[in-house]
Amino acid sequence: MRRVYLDHSATTPVDPAVVSAMTPYFNEIFGNPSSVHQFGREAKVAIEEARGKIADFINAEPSEIIFTSGGTESDNFAILGVALAGFKRGKNHIITSKIEHHAVLDVCIYLQKNGFDVTFLEVGSDGIVDPDDVRKSITSRTCLVTVMHVNNEIGTIQPIQEIGKIAQEYNIPFHTDAVQSLGKIEVDVKNLNVDLLSASAHKIYGPKGVGFLYVRKGIYIEKFHHGGSQEAGRRAGTEAVPLIVGFGKAVEICAERMKYDYEHVSMLKERMVKGIYESGFDEFLILNSPLDKTIPHILNFSVNSSKIEVDADALIYGFDLRGVAVSNGSACTSGSLKPSHVILALGRDEKTALATVRFSFGRGNTVDDVDYAVEVFAEIVRSFVEKVALK
Ligand SMILES: Cc1ncc(COP(=O)(O)O)c(C=O)c1O
Repeated sequence: MRRVYLDHSATTPVDPAVVSAMTPYFNEIFGNPSSVHQFGREAKVAIEEARGKIADFINAEPSEIIFTSGGTESDNFAILGVALAGFKRGKNHIITSKIEHHAVLDVCIYLQKNGFDVTFLEVGSDGIVDPDDVRKSITSRTCLVTVMHVNNEIGTIQPIQEIGKIAQEYNIPFHTDAVQSLGKIEVDVKNLNVDLLSASAHKIYGPKGVGFLYVRKGIYIEKFHHGGSQEAGRRAGTEAVPLIVGFGKAVEICAERMKYDYEHVSMLKERMVKGIYESGFDEFLILNSPLDKTIPHILNFSVNSSKIEVDADALIYGFDLRGVAVSNGSACTSGSLKPSHVILALGRDEKTALATVRFSFGRGNTVDDVDYAVEVFAEIVRSFVEKVALK
């Protein structure tokens, strides 16, 4: 059976050049970077090289990069670390949005249960946060604003620069989750006006299990990994040297080919949208990714429940049965699907939110992949239409 991978926002294959760069660090250059001997020093040099490449890529200083185990840890670290620092100064209010990834949302909910007030900002029907809403929500107790750069389900690019400016005016630390934007569009921490930024390697053809948190010099953050003095005393634990080296290499490759990748996935997205509209089943769909406000590698549709009722499981497994890997963005709890909080935040009803498909494109995709996925999508929707007609 033909297999097409259209789930690059979930994860990407590791680039062979990244694998080659990492390989010697498993059993040749295997020292502990904290060791003072030659073996340790070699590993330390490799970490610092990766740190330098990453810092350059986001226009930061190497000392502002803290390696972590991935996007989830970076988000947790940023939010808990800044919240705790704020709490000590009598501040206990956080501003975020309703469409954040669970790595942000659930930390905010956790803090809410532990003495913090959290404002979860609405988004417009286009999935964009209004910077004015951020300004209106600020109080004298606000210790953190956290709004994601690019949404992982629908691909909307948030007005980070403007939100950052507002946060600066009030001297409030501003964090952004850039897990879906790093390596895809420009991420320049100075341009974006951010104080903290999270990223992850496995979304950019790097290995799973490594990420970084950028913390602008001068921003105080409480640490919550205690032990050794790694990462300048900010995150204890022996560094994952091969993974960090791989992350550095993945970033180096992104720096070289970002423009090409952008054009490639833009072409694929345009072709898919055109294919869907030309196939004539678009009348049953709602586009959740406004084309002028989203990143090109993400495209999200819902099947409109007011036009046709679909079984959400059958929709997603319909793709899988035909070899096409897509995602629906819904959380699966104890066997039953829950509608995506992001699609609900756009104002869709629960049934429509459940019947959602996210396509996410990557370097290895071809126009044939896209054409096949359109065919499969059309076939699945038609089968729902026929079922309804038979009833
Ligand atoms: C926006 C966003 N934030 C955070 C994460 C979590 O990253 P990781 O898988 O590296 O923990 C993801 C992963 O899907 C994501 O898309």
